[in-house]
Amino acid sequence: MDKLEVLKKRAEFLREELTRHAQLYYEQDSPEISDFQYDVLIRELQDIEQKYPVLVTPDSPTHRVGGAPREGFVKVKHKNPMMSLDNALNRDELASFYEKLSKSLEIRAPQVVCEPKIDGVAISLIYQDGVFISGATRGNGRIGEDVTENLKTIRTMPLRLNEALNGRLEVRGEVCIDKDDFALLNDRREEAGETLFANPRNAAAGSLRQLNPKITATRKLNIYLYQIIEPEKQGITSQNEIFKRLKKLGLPVQGEERTCNSLEEILLYLDFWTKKRFDHPIDTDGVVVKLDDLSQRAGLGSTAKAPRWAIAFKFPPEEKLTLIKDIEVTVGRTGTLTPTAILEPVHLSGTIVQRANLHNQDEIDRKDIRIGDMVIVHKAGEIIPEVISVDLNKRKNDSKPYRLPETCPVCDARAVRLPGEAALKCSNTSCPAQVKEGIVHFASRQAMDIRGLGDKIVAQLVDSKRIKNIADLYSLDILTLISMDRMGKKLAQNILDAIEKSKKRSLASLINALGIRNVGEKTAQELAERFRTLDALAKSSIETEYKLEMMDGIGPIITKSLNTFFTEPHNKAMIERLRIAGINFELEGPATNKEELPWNGFKFVLTGELSSMTRTEASEKIKALGGQTSSSVSKKTNFVLVGTNPGSKYSKAQKLGVPILDEEAFLDKLNELA
Ligand code: IVH
Repeated sequence: MDKLEVLKKRAEFLREELTRHAQLYYEQDSPEISDFQYDVLIRELQDIEQKYPVLVTPDSPTHRVGGAPREGFVKVKHKNPMMSLDNALNRDELASFYEKLSKSLEIRAPQVVCEPKIDGVAISLIYQDGVFISGATRGNGRIGEDVTENLKTIRTMPLRLNEALNGRLEVRGEVCIDKDDFALLNDRREEAGETLFANPRNAAAGSLRQLNPKITATRKLNIYLYQIIEPEKQGITSQNEIFKRLKKLGLPVQGEERTCNSLEEILLYLDFWTKKRFDHPIDTDGVVVKLDDLSQRAGLGSTAKAPRWAIAFKFPPEEKLTLIKDIEVTVGRTGTLTPTAILEPVHLSGTIVQRANLHNQDEIDRKDIRIGDMVIVHKAGEIIPEVISVDLNKRKNDSKPYRLPETCPVCDARAVRLPGEAALKCSNTSCPAQVKEGIVHFASRQAMDIRGLGDKIVAQLVDSKRIKNIADLYSLDILTLISMDRMGKKLAQNILDAIEKSKKRSLASLINALGIRNVGEKTAQELAERFRTLDALAKSSIETEYKLEMMDGIGPIITKSLNTFFTEPHNKAMIERLRIAGINFELEGPATNKEELPWNGFKFVLTGELSSMTRTEASEKIKALGGQTSSSVSKKTNFVLVGTNPGSKYSKAQKLGVPILDEEAFLDKLNELA
């Protein structure tokens, strides 16, 4: 085999593996490998495809991480126009729609299928011979925009269908983002001083229309399909069959549809979703009612804008009028002063709302929000309480425009607004509010995992001046801890043990724990892998900058944050104290190029008991040599390591002709490679 052949095989193997792991992760919720291991595999495939573009396939999972940015979107004409739906704004309008159906069809109670209406972005996907080849937005219904590369980054959208269909298949549905992910995305944007998305639909649309697919890849978009174009060509006769077929092909559907045979049933479904939508992960703005039978649909036809066989019942917008009792200003980890409206509590979209983030002075000025105002509130994307506008008729004569304080409400230091930023910041880096938030973050699970050290204890420790920064945690003693409110000896000892244990946390956890601006968990992991020691990352040199520049996903903003953090004298001193305390500053294990490891790409399955080591130890040794372990035997397994009393995996290996290693042969191999 020549080199290209070998790489082609390797690429095929990697693709299969990556697709399988993505399915385990996204569809079965039971990952076999860590996100990091997944990234290592995808990187390897990317490298191969970059060096040998002939080896790129249209369904390669590397498209999931996004290709090169483009200048603009290409316009595409939809073969069949993408229609809209007529709306029913209340129950009467829905009743008359159903009555009209009944009259036109001359059927007393036509069968319909109801489904939540997703407040997302309408999309059309085209599969050729079972492989995804292109996708477009609705645009004006006739002409949309080609967003193929961005769609490929949506991990729940199959790049290849379960069945190798012959010819062209067009399916349609909606791209959206979960409410939780929308909230997280906005949190991050706020932290980075970027403009916020108004609701999940805008976030989904903004992410899908990114010219740089790499950015799209970082957004957790979802897709749900509900329509097949020209279904009759596939022998499909109803909406229910459309859903079945979509599912069978591996295309994601909402799975919340209900077949109804009367207006009463439709109204019950509506009642159910009127409440359920508030704790549903996706933003829904109504319920779509569609005639089930496709031949009946054909008889009804469409208007220029919408089909006559379907209607969208729109939920009334949930808005309430309430009073702004006060505006509270808090200080976060990065020193940002955040104004929050304290509201007269109101029931809104399923919960009682008492606070709404007002973001910054510009937002307050734009809406002219004042203490004592009556305001209209709603939940953006059914999740984030937001003041929409002020009812000026109810404004008191003596009300005054609101201004954020000129000094930090916690430490009284001057609050400054940097040019080009919307946020006002406390200028004192040792401001107790910033210090507390920073320590709580340092101790959090994804960081140094110091269990028991919650915000209340941190607040007491900082307020009583027992600790001033994270390094002080490592000189805490039991007497100091016990002197805190509601602290028993046992809890104090547990905290000390957790602090001790934290010294061995991974380099990635430490980098994340330091709370460097714009450096979260994932970036910290990548930095740890690339730099391997904290000192290498902290060193201010051309080499560091060059290495950062060469990293994917690290731009000038992160580089600048790192530089600012590591050159700040207080931080330098604190890092020295962490070193003296014995915190791990290094990535475990020697630097390795995975491709060069002897068992790179080899898959092992272990069964039975070993005498010289445990199965976990054996797995670790395999992984250290670049191999992988899996729990089931398949043709792709390279070796099955068999101990005493093996299980059915042994007989399966024999049946499939997979090479079998006993413990002795395994140890020999290890010795050979040592
Ligand atoms: S059926 C002829 N089902 O809402 C179009 N549409 O406001 C048949 N939408 O154009 C559409 N969720 O983009 C259907 N479960 C759902 C939907 C849904 C959202 C969108 C779709 C439609 C728009 C109308």
